[in-house]
Amino acid sequence: MNIINSLMFGYYITLGCFLEVWCQGLFFLFFDVMILGNMIILAIETSCDETSASVLKAGSKKLELLSNVVSSQINIHAVYGGVVPEVAARQHVHNILPVIDEALKTAKIKPAKIDLLAVVPGPGLITSLMVGVETAKSLSFAWQKPLLEVNHMYGHIAGNFLQPIVFPAICLVVSGGHTEIVHLKNYQTYKKIGQTVDDASGEAYDKVAKLLNLGYPGGPKVSAEADKFTLLSKEGVGGGLPRIKLPRPMLNSGDFNFSFSGLKTAVLYATQKMTKKELLERTPEICFEFQEATIEVLTKKTLTAAKQFKAKTILMAGGVAANKRLREQLREMSEANGFAFSVPEFKLCTDNAAMIAIASYYLSQNKKTPLDNWQKIKVDPNWELA
Ligand code: KG4
Ligand code: ZN
Repeated sequence: MNIINSLMFGYYITLGCFLEVWCQGLFFLFFDVMILGNMIILAIETSCDETSASVLKAGSKKLELLSNVVSSQINIHAVYGGVVPEVAARQHVHNILPVIDEALKTAKIKPAKIDLLAVVPGPGLITSLMVGVETAKSLSFAWQKPLLEVNHMYGHIAGNFLQPIVFPAICLVVSGGHTEIVHLKNYQTYKKIGQTVDDASGEAYDKVAKLLNLGYPGGPKVSAEADKFTLLSKEGVGGGLPRIKLPRPMLNSGDFNFSFSGLKTAVLYATQKMTKKELLERTPEICFEFQEATIEVLTKKTLTAAKQFKAKTILMAGGVAANKRLREQLREMSEANGFAFSVPEFKLCTDNAAMIAIASYYLSQNKKTPLDNWQKIKVDPNWELA
């Protein structure tokens, strides 16, 4: 196999030879980008339970995704009701080289044509991150290509950057491990202005799904149940408004922080009073109300932030951004208040390497980003967005 041969070869290169070719590699990178304006990026993402590799052709005027291969482990973890870190890491080891091979083949790109490698050292599951990072470092050494580290959450935000964005912008970042509001001055300069004080919104979706025996991952399941309630209401069956009323935590807290653990507990208390039959019948109604409560807090706080920071655009990113109702609501509220709105297409919302490739392109355009320190890149499972 191509990659294995390359890896073996890489280990035997002498340091002197390595340094010489390394400098040449950097020279060609800058030549290509400065003169031709084109850059081929191979990105790797293994932060949780998706093994992914993507090839991006980046020019100053156009970003073109040549491939985005995602090998999901959902079926493996579903039987445990959530991601088992040890199992996830073993699967990444199994999948990583075939996934990279497929990404290169689909893109019709040979390793020699790659200008830049990108990888995620955090945040995420430490053992999963290690597989991606060590693979990327080995390829960087073997192929003599610069390697850039990308924060996973910045990667989610960059999923929006395939099209030009009008700044300043406010981004609602909603995933399984994070819920944050980020203020962006431009593609590379950003600051987190609020976050959850306990559970992330995706985590709350997953926990509510578990309480209601809907399976894993909970987001799409809870959302599908909520849709059933909407449909029944439209047909005049099931009564229009939900009878259960859940809290809107921290809606008026005066800051941009969130809390979702109380909302999940409120669902627990409400369901404890129900018989099995009632619980089964009322699952769509509970999911609907849970989703409405979550969306109301997320959208209202994002809108307030956009107004306060005089943003021109509202962005959304992360796995929960794949939620149809949340996308509709935030788009409607943004446009009604004069903001442009952007959310990545569905497959770029949940974990994927294409968003990491896009992010690395924008980071590489910042002269301060180091491109020659692959040896210093280390996993950091708690890497916070600045
Ligand atoms: O960003 P992501 O793929 O992984 C992390 O970085 O965490 O997000 C995964 C989260 C899970 O909690 C999953 O339940 C949630 O995103 N999710 C959704 C939907 N699709 C995925 N939540 C609500 N509605 C969805 N359609
Ligand atoms: Zn993610």
